[in-house]
Amino acid sequence: MTSASQERDKWGSKVGFILAAAGSAIGLGNIWRFPYVTGQNGGAAFVLLYIIFVVVIGLPVMVAELTIGRTTERDTVGAFAKLAPKSLWTLVGMLGVATGVGILSYYAVIAGWTVGYFFKTLGGSFSHLMTAETSVNIFTHFVSNPAAAIGLLFVFILLTALVVMGGVSSGIERWAKILMPVLFVLLILLTLRSVTLPGAGKGLAFYLKPDFSKITIGAAGKALGQALFSLSLGMGAMITYGSYLSKKENLVIAGCYVAFFDTLIAIIAGLMTFPALFAMGLDPAGGPGLVFVVIPTIFAKMPGGDFFGAGFFLLLSVAALTSTISLLEVPVAYLVDEWKWTRKKAVLIMSALSFTLGIPSALSNGASSWLSKIPGIGTGFLDLANIVLGNYSLTLGALLISVFIGYKWGIKAAIAQNEKGGNTFYFKNVWAFLIRFVCPIAIMLIFVYIIWTKNYF
Ligand code: PHE
Repeated sequence: MTSASQERDKWGSKVGFILAAAGSAIGLGNIWRFPYVTGQNGGAAFVLLYIIFVVVIGLPVMVAELTIGRTTERDTVGAFAKLAPKSLWTLVGMLGVATGVGILSYYAVIAGWTVGYFFKTLGGSFSHLMTAETSVNIFTHFVSNPAAAIGLLFVFILLTALVVMGGVSSGIERWAKILMPVLFVLLILLTLRSVTLPGAGKGLAFYLKPDFSKITIGAAGKALGQALFSLSLGMGAMITYGSYLSKKENLVIAGCYVAFFDTLIAIIAGLMTFPALFAMGLDPAGGPGLVFVVIPTIFAKMPGGDFFGAGFFLLLSVAALTSTISLLEVPVAYLVDEWKWTRKKAVLIMSALSFTLGIPSALSNGASSWLSKIPGIGTGFLDLANIVLGNYSLTLGALLISVFIGYKWGIKAAIAQNEKGGNTFYFKNVWAFLIRFVCPIAIMLIFVYIIWTKNYF
């Protein structure tokens, strides 16, 4: 076990870090969240907005977070305390810690579903799946079972805790290295089957032919939130991961790799989902159950479908695990660095907390009618957590981080830190411009619009 209070752990290698950061980024955000949010917000035009936000806001904030982390070698709260002592900026770190625990709580519920779907597929539940309706029924039935939902949530949090207990290099890094490439291959296989289904054309058009009338500020807010969520930004996950990074690494290059692979996987996931979805006659705006309904219909139509299907859900669970690890690592690093807790104690208490907070999300998909449709709000608890924490809290975090770098800590200091150890900071003027002006202004405009029009969901 690693005792971070003595010698701080470091990533074992450059590839190891990139894979771990990519492992944090690539997860349910790409394969579960991206397709359904795209479906709800009009398809191709949304994808375009998403890509723009990845480049002009995601990448600069990624470099910012990694820089803050590596410079301070501290957890997200400690990092702000070190760069701006005795100021309210530590609250940004606190917001990140709280958001991390909150996202983990509902994310692990969905991750639990993927584990459940692995066993279902293995058991042949989808072998003779003919209609989309059957798939919908299986899904609805499965997620409304309270014991299964809570049990799988528990299993997933437990797995996460076991890995995080092992510390960053031995635990997290080793896992990420082996399994991510296999998932990629399976994703391509499913996509090939999906785009060759009869009737796939309509889905391709929906996904790839932008209808510019769908571009609204409301959709932009969702696209931005999705970009931040998918890249693990706005809550200090990349500050924390950056804090274990050696001074020799070039952060701009590392950030570009991570953003590129993350976006690639999301785009492919959409390409896998929409052709099959339209071929099956399903509604693209179907919400969080979307991929769980669509994917089984794809491998029901593949030779060796059960095998590929089970493999797919297993690897998706692993992709989710490399993300939950980073979510748990944020509060754990905080307690270990700032409160001098042992890693073990921090992991135990934070995972117990996340599990408890996850229970209402687990029950909000049919098990409890109140939680599934909260009176006065109209959405379920999980959906609400997903929008408040997974969208707005990250967006607010990204805004504050860009203001912090641009106006408090300062662009010059950040650039100097990045150039330490002889690194070239590519496009530093572009970065400075984006982080000082484009990020804060764009995010503020989106917030003002959302509050003005009360267009929260
Ligand atoms: N980026 C992860 C995903 O796409 C989720 C995540 C968000 C992880 C924020 C860490 C921090 O699945």
